[in-house]
Amino acid sequence: MLQNTAIRPEFSEVDVDAEPVNTAKPDLLTVEEAKALDPQSMADLFKEHINPGQFHFMKLLGFHKVKIETAEGMYYVDQNGRKILDFFGGFGSLAHGHNHPRVIAARQKFQDEGRHEIAIAFLSQYASALAKNLAACSPGELDMVFLGSSGSEAMEAAVKVAERASGRPNCKIVHAGNSFHGKTKGVLSITDSDLYQGNFNLVENRIKVPFGDLEALTRAIESDPDIGVVVLETVQGGGGIISAPESYWKGVRALCDKHDVLWVADEVQCGYGRTGKFYAFEHYGVVPDVTALAKSLGAGKAAVGAMIAKREVYMKAYGSPKTAMIHAQATFGGIGEASITAIEGLNVLYDEDLIENAARVGDHLISRLKALQEKYPKIIKDVRGKGLMVGLEFQDFSKTMPAVLRPMISLLDDKLKGSLSGFIGAQLLRDYDILVAFTEYNRNVIRLEPPLVCTSENVDTFCDALDDLLSKGIVSIVNGFIKSQKG
Ligand SMILES: Cc1ncc(COP(=O)(O)O)c(C=O)c1O
Repeated sequence: MLQNTAIRPEFSEVDVDAEPVNTAKPDLLTVEEAKALDPQSMADLFKEHINPGQFHFMKLLGFHKVKIETAEGMYYVDQNGRKILDFFGGFGSLAHGHNHPRVIAARQKFQDEGRHEIAIAFLSQYASALAKNLAACSPGELDMVFLGSSGSEAMEAAVKVAERASGRPNCKIVHAGNSFHGKTKGVLSITDSDLYQGNFNLVENRIKVPFGDLEALTRAIESDPDIGVVVLETVQGGGGIISAPESYWKGVRALCDKHDVLWVADEVQCGYGRTGKFYAFEHYGVVPDVTALAKSLGAGKAAVGAMIAKREVYMKAYGSPKTAMIHAQATFGGIGEASITAIEGLNVLYDEDLIENAARVGDHLISRLKALQEKYPKIIKDVRGKGLMVGLEFQDFSKTMPAVLRPMISLLDDKLKGSLSGFIGAQLLRDYDILVAFTEYNRNVIRLEPPLVCTSENVDTFCDALDDLLSKGIVSIVNGFIKSQKG
């Protein structure tokens, strides 16, 4: 049809003077060339094409000198063959450890068999099976699944399904102080961070209440009948590993039932077995109306996110042919290799008892850290968490830093001034080959979210290293950090 000049007369003649279209291959790196980049070239390209400002932080922490070549189980291996123990775990994205052999084999087989990827035309056996598995892992009537490629996308889907199902034309959404639900525009509006929210124009229909404060939530819901949705991380990750007691969660459930409000539990970071139950809310004997998973759902090899809703909620929002396509999955939702990766990952999680391991090894980690807190009360302020989602909070030295250190740290970046996490994290990497994670909203907290394959011996290696470092004292730790910046 496009050649039909009667319909498209502009194609009837060839313009001989037109510039020839340049189809020459641009200067592209090959996969082999990418693999061979050295740390300096990686840094140059990162600064030139990805995020120069972020590079500044990577340099402060000493990450810029490391090129990861391979990874296996609990370890990264760098360009010098140095094994780095991973107590960061991609903020909870690596439940199975790096390159779990069963996950790798499933992916390899899928490719060898020439299977298909895109799941938006025909039905996909893989997307259907993954949805069935997620429903099987989820308590109560959490049966309907939306598949996407990230936690933000899963949370967008969760908030949208709840908003529609709430039945309120001017539905308002309650979220918590210190919340983190992602950076896409919708969930950014309920992510409590001035930095991330910047000066963006955000969704207006939101109300913030303090996390864990049932009275504040009750007051909000009772005073505003437009409130139709409450969104809460079951354990706040970005907030610094903050949880609330069982009475709070029982109260949230009862309050929502009483006022016909839908509760969305964000389990993107705390779910998938990390706290010693598949979902963290299972510790409290309650079931939300909608939940979301991502991170470890991709078994460390694929980008997978999922919203899981009670069938009744889903059907209210999108149950008829007329409404079915309003939030049907996007291009990469339920894509083949990602789905089989997640299917195999869920099977491995149960076959290898990784959830029980998280509970057992997590208890050991917490008890060893509490012993260190008793030994170093002037340095460690708090140890908290469940399973392998643990927060280690240092005393805040920003105002009380010993006088001898003040001139030294005044040279440093605003972000690290007075925050021991940065100094300690950088030295754990440099001198002890251990990687830990920092916390968005509280710079004094190190987040420990190692893979769920972590052993008690791994915990001992980490705690012995921390003990050795802390035994040197604050002055030496900060001094060591400053020296590393000069070196
Ligand atoms: C609780 C929570 N929700 C949502 C997200 C967003 O996930 P993603 O980074 O995959 O978009 C995160 C990411 O850290 C998270 O921790």
